Amino acid sequence: MPGQPVAEVAAALRATLGAAKVVHLQGLAAARPAADWPAFYDALTEATGQCLHLDENYALGSVRTGEKWIEVRYDAAIPDDAAYRFSKNAQPLHTDESYLSEPADVMFMHCLVQAPAGGETTFVDADVLWQQLQLHVPTLAAQLLGRPVCFAKAGDSRTLPIIAQTPAGLRLNWNYHCVDPAETTENHALAQQFREFLLTHINDTAAEVAIQLAPGEAVAWWDDQVLHGRRAFRAVATNDRFLLKSGFRLAADV
Ligand SMILES: [Fe+2]
Repeated sequence: MPGQPVAEVAAALRATLGAAKVVHLQGLAAARPAADWPAFYDALTEATGQCLHLDENYALGSVRTGEKWIEVRYDAAIPDDAAYRFSKNAQPLHTDESYLSEPADVMFMHCLVQAPAGGETTFVDADVLWQQLQLHVPTLAAQLLGRPVCFAKAGDSRTLPIIAQTPAGLRLNWNYHCVDPAETTENHALAQQFREFLLTHINDTAAEVAIQLAPGEAVAWWDDQVLHGRRAFRAVATNDRFLLKSGFRLAADV
């Protein structure tokens, strides 16, 4: 609720994340001036979990900067095909931390400027994904489940299955563009097949849930319990769409 102390909002967010894979936060910042939103969400995330500093410097080969918030914004000076973070193109389904050896649990993104049209963030539940994979490509499903694949970027890497069955449920680790070039031919082929499955059977189907963030709103999601992507959007000038993203760890008591 507007005016609610940050500690109470954080407790409610933790509780909600105990039961939901994706949480859309609405009505929290609208009563505040837009200039105050970054400080509000910074305080909220600090009060919710252990925040990580995930920012990467695009111009310097994605080295980590030590900054907490990553800018996700349209930049007219950067070619659209060079980096999804600065483009208006659709972004294929992925997890954010496929290649990070010290990942966050929950990703958190809030909106400063929404695009004039499009730009929805899309989510696919791991259970729904698994059902569809078994239904449409059962051979691939069997090959992928529990099979370790190395993902690498900017000197960091992580090896996990694209889909794993764990005691806590299905877990995902996936970014087509970050499959380690040194991976085996077989694993590259499986990644290619999984990418084609997503494009054919998941993208723009009822399996996807689209969330349009209005200015001042935010979304939090468990990075390894859903895939997420972005729909293309209309933009002309730099910063026609501008979001800030970070991530945090949560204690096991959620
Ligand atoms: Fe992402």
